[in-house]
Amino acid sequence: MSDQGEIILEGKSYKLPVIEGSEKEKAVDISKLRQDSGYITIDSGYGNTGACKSAITFIDGDKGILRYRGIPIEVLAEKSDFVETSYLLMYGNLPNRAQREEFRNQLSGHSMIHEGMIKFFDGYPTTAHPMATLSSMVCSLSAYYPEHLDPKDKTHVNHLVPRLLAKMKTIAAYSYKKAKGQPVIYPKTDLDYCSNFLRMMFGTPAEEYKIDPLMVKALNVLLILHADHEQNCSTSTVRLVGSSDANLFASVAAGICALWGPKHGGANQEVVEMLQLIEREKIPVKEIIRRAKDKNSGFRLMGFGHRVYKNFDPRARVIKVYSDKLLANMGIKDPLLDIAKELEEAALQDDFFKERKLYPNVDFYSGVIYRAMGIPTDMFTVMFALGRLPGWIAHWMEMHSEGDGRIGRPRQIYSGETERPYVPMDQRK
Ligand code: SDX
Repeated sequence: MSDQGEIILEGKSYKLPVIEGSEKEKAVDISKLRQDSGYITIDSGYGNTGACKSAITFIDGDKGILRYRGIPIEVLAEKSDFVETSYLLMYGNLPNRAQREEFRNQLSGHSMIHEGMIKFFDGYPTTAHPMATLSSMVCSLSAYYPEHLDPKDKTHVNHLVPRLLAKMKTIAAYSYKKAKGQPVIYPKTDLDYCSNFLRMMFGTPAEEYKIDPLMVKALNVLLILHADHEQNCSTSTVRLVGSSDANLFASVAAGICALWGPKHGGANQEVVEMLQLIEREKIPVKEIIRRAKDKNSGFRLMGFGHRVYKNFDPRARVIKVYSDKLLANMGIKDPLLDIAKELEEAALQDDFFKERKLYPNVDFYSGVIYRAMGIPTDMFTVMFALGRLPGWIAHWMEMHSEGDGRIGRPRQIYSGETERPYVPMDQRK
């Protein structure tokens, strides 16, 4: 269904087509506006601007709805696992038994990385942030598949996708091991994705690693909840870089860098560091709320607020339940969880947060579970990247298959000097 919009510029009327999505969202198509009127639109932060149509993820920020290919994330978190959800996001439907088996085997079978890549880690200081190693290692994967880098060739893409999904978890685990000065633990083809990752992270050659089904379930839930979120900063980065026909590894490496920012995926690390500061310095919750409301304090309540959700982030609800469950089952009492709950309660009763519709987002509680699993704080954003990888890949593939193939190139309104002469050195002030 479409109707028309109209814009009047300098007394002239311009009709603008309106498009409507499958969930009745509407957009004004301005793709002809500049050629017809000479005007462009401007929208700092793209809060009102759609970059594309997409069939992958639907978010209703007012109702707190999040669905992957039409399936609510709450259902996937309960009934699915990360590998199956990755398949759903990338290929559009849940896999049948044969497809799921084949996909699982591909991921388990391609989990090793080239021995030459393991040497890269030795060049990094042990204090290197794992997002630095992850982004450079993922981009470096392109050096090992020079014959499969054409984004327009489906056989190349189908060759790379399972390898990237399989290897990124190995790179993540290896960066942790190298930072700890421990030997890397090689993946095992007879283990599922999450069991393999946990064993590579916490196993040692000295003893057989005992896989805890509770931890495997919690990790599957966390990765599922992070798997996609439509046109967020890092996914938009993957699409923009991919629109230049850069290869899959280079596009995802750019997404990893975008995710690293504390306003985005880096927030989960910031949340735990904030909670640790509050605990260490016994800062009253009231004082934290005061600082968060004071623009001059330079402090933000990390893990709160969202560009799209003006209601509870549905992922935060699920993660909060799992935090309670996992800690209770593991007999862990984490004071940071209690502080987080106190902060949430205080903020949700405060007009500043209520007026701005600031609620806990996906990052507010996730760190509590990662801590319970023994994952160090500086690896939290890496965990976010592992979860988001299938979403990045799904959008990159959709852009190449559904998009118009044009390179992304926004316009601007110039606000600098108008034309002026070159001033010779001896005449400059
Ligand atoms: C993720 O886009 C996605 O989908 C991202 C993500 C995904 O899955 O990919 O969901 C993952 O990035 C979650 C967000 C993680 N970041 C944080 O938790 C960092 C803290 N939150 C903020 O910095 C902020 O809320 C953002 C970045 C998340 C959203 O920023 P916006 O939409 O640009 O909102 P804004 O900065 O314009 O804030 C609106 C108002 C401002 O006050 P006023 O100027 O109106 O008086 O709300 C205030 C802000 O000062 N505000 C906060 C706040 N977040 C917004 N005040 C205190 N603490 C906060 N956390």
